[in-house]
Amino acid sequence: MIPNKIIRIKKNNQEIPASDLKQFIWEYSHQQISDKEMTKLLKAIFKNGMTREEIFALTESMIDSGEKMDFTFMSDYVADKHSTGGVGDKVSIILGPLMAAAGLAIPMISGRSLGHTGGTLDKLETIPGYRTNISLDEFKRNVNDIGISMIGQTEEICPADRKMYALRDVTGTVASIPLICGSIMSKKIAEGIQGLVMDIKIGNGAFMNTIEEGKELATLIQDIAENFNIQSDIVFTSMNQPLGQFAGLWCEIKEAIDCLRDEGSNDTMKVTFALGTKLLLQAQIVNDENEALNLQQRLIESGSALEKLLEMVVIHDGSLSDLASLHTLHLPEEETVLSAEKSGYITHMDTLRIGLAHCELGCGRKKVSDILDPTAGIEFYHKIGDEVSEGEPLMRLFNTKKDKLDIALHMLKKSVTIDDDKVQHHLILDDRNSS
Ligand code: URA
Repeated sequence: MIPNKIIRIKKNNQEIPASDLKQFIWEYSHQQISDKEMTKLLKAIFKNGMTREEIFALTESMIDSGEKMDFTFMSDYVADKHSTGGVGDKVSIILGPLMAAAGLAIPMISGRSLGHTGGTLDKLETIPGYRTNISLDEFKRNVNDIGISMIGQTEEICPADRKMYALRDVTGTVASIPLICGSIMSKKIAEGIQGLVMDIKIGNGAFMNTIEEGKELATLIQDIAENFNIQSDIVFTSMNQPLGQFAGLWCEIKEAIDCLRDEGSNDTMKVTFALGTKLLLQAQIVNDENEALNLQQRLIESGSALEKLLEMVVIHDGSLSDLASLHTLHLPEEETVLSAEKSGYITHMDTLRIGLAHCELGCGRKKVSDILDPTAGIEFYHKIGDEVSEGEPLMRLFNTKKDKLDIALHMLKKSVTIDDDKVQHHLILDDRNSS
């Protein structure tokens, strides 16, 4: 293969034949094409985009670069959920066990914090003993034995994507919708799922600021899913404010457990149930949305969903089985509050800034080598539409590093806007079913 020939095709905004694109990616993942050449191709894709055929070829070559899981021996409906990332988004930790309790098989490979957003994997790793890097065989066995396993990305799944993603990260080519879709979907398809539900976050704390951008992503995701025979549904939810009561690490595990005990915040449960409804309908476990909501509520009230989470923790060697340790583990040594500067209604929350502050506290990384602080997080006392009085606490910040706490508090000073007129916050913005 002559790499420059392929790069030139994309630079000229023409379609690269599928076989050439697959060959290019194969050679890159086998060290026969250099980072420099791949960067040129990525930049040309970033500028000119990709056709559907190119995106399918890209996705297929990334899947074929590693192992593909096969759950066809199971009779359960095999599914997963993906979120484009937000602040306080602990939905996977609630939804996974809830769906497994409903009889679905959930092989979930989660990611770490990215930019200002939290990562499910980082949260799970605050559970003492919980092993996130098990072999694919063990992962498969867990899904077969208890219906769910949540782990981190492995070397075996889509190694070409791993290599390309790392290069995109340092070449400013992450924010390309075709590359994002190929990257996300290759890993989901390699999990061997039959169905996917995707939570596309929209708003000032999301990677997509407008619903139009979100819909472009959704169309491509669904095209890829259809091409690979996967049912997919999309829910568009707001990230114009953090989700739930807490954003952080261990505090989000505790909140997820509260949700599974039927003591969850309304917004978190609403997003969880909206996504769960899609999966239950896909799996044909229920006939309509009402039945789906009732089933999810029953599984929470009966304790079955919480039991499923605990079962998963135990099978991963985590030590949460008695729950007694919930309120004594990872206690922060420092805390402070952000207070309202004036009286009125909360009209705006700068969720990007809140996310960056929560990373500063120790919940996310600025560089790969940064060590997280499991005790760190933010508690939200108020959200958009609430009436507050001057001096009233809006958020509580906590961690175990005073200097970082002070920086985070300073970052949050202008993160909440208070005005005279009440505004509404819309959580579920839209949805789309499998075509
Ligand atoms: N998450 C991924 O897995 N890939 C991307 O390209 C972006 C987000």
